Amino acid sequence: MFLARTQRTINYRNAKILAPMVRIGVLPFRMIAEQCGADIVYSEELVDKKLLACTRSINEETGVVEYTLDKQPERVVYSTSPTHEPKPLVLQIGTSSAELALQVAEKIYYDYDAIDINCGCPKHFSISGNMGAALLKDRVHLCNILSTLVKNISDKAVTCKIRLLENVSDTINLMKHIEQTGVQAIAVHARYVPQRPRVKAHLDVLGEISHSVDIPIIANGDCFAYQDIDRIKQLTKCDSVMIARGAIWNPAIFASDPVVQEKWSNPHYVALKMLDQFEQVRHLFTSAKYIICRTYGDSSKDGAFLTSLSRSSSYEEMRCIIGQKLL
Ligand SMILES: Cc1cc2nc3c(=O)[nH]c(=O)nc-3n(C[C@H](O)[C@H](O)[C@H](O)COP(=O)(O)O)c2cc1C
Repeated sequence: MFLARTQRTINYRNAKILAPMVRIGVLPFRMIAEQCGADIVYSEELVDKKLLACTRSINEETGVVEYTLDKQPERVVYSTSPTHEPKPLVLQIGTSSAELALQVAEKIYYDYDAIDINCGCPKHFSISGNMGAALLKDRVHLCNILSTLVKNISDKAVTCKIRLLENVSDTINLMKHIEQTGVQAIAVHARYVPQRPRVKAHLDVLGEISHSVDIPIIANGDCFAYQDIDRIKQLTKCDSVMIARGAIWNPAIFASDPVVQEKWSNPHYVALKMLDQFEQVRHLFTSAKYIICRTYGDSSKDGAFLTSLSRSSSYEEMRCIIGQKLL
């Protein structure tokens, strides 16, 4: 059986987008985001060399396409399924090489709809490998990676996600060069490279740069409620909005329907829904537990409850602990 995603064009205008998030943006979490109303979902960032070392297979039980390393077959590196997540899926990669990026794009070809280059990650791991935000310092190299993908993977969208440079004119200049490569959209995380997420996003700066290119610009930063989506679009004049932490804490942030929002405002309801999705695709329990604990964020002040959740060792146990809270 060879399962592939069908060809599609992606509309990057007026879209509510699930941001790429390491350890969070896995298939079952993306499924939840889609069900709640996300129009486009990003995978977590995956490093080129790791993907290139993986083998593709189809899980007979679930019908999900899985990429795994031979030495750790139980730990799925990347998975997808057009039936489980029918909306546009963007595979985000960490790379510092046009050649390796292209090899990934070709290898995974049937299992994504668009490919995105992470140019914003400030972590040591990325910077020391000349990936992530390091690419912002070498415009020629970054544009070479992007144009190599655009030229060779002509029937899939290529995009990138950047951060703000120190001054507006440098950011605009970079965006213009990126546009010239033929990418279909640019996501801009409205923070400077050294800034942590707790620093307020500079959405006002997005308003100064969004007019500078003709391709869609995706605003990212501090979207924490459904109403913020329109507010951010108006403030920044960006085409679409991408949401990271707001979606972890409340996946129903994408839902326009107040009934859905109301139902999902109960964190225990959200956690049980997530458990269903994780179990449906036989997701590794430890990863599911990590994500579910994070969805509680600060919403549960109940330390004993969170401790017992984090100590649970099976889906069944976790369901039982959460279920008691709903009695
Ligand atoms: C848990 C977590 C993991 C993240 N992983 C990635 C990643 O893999 N790739 C990426 O480009 N950004 C990553 N980010 C950054 C987010 O995509 C986003 O740019 C940032 O959190 C700002 O959006 P927010 O204010 O909506 O949280 C991550 C953020 C969080 C909170």
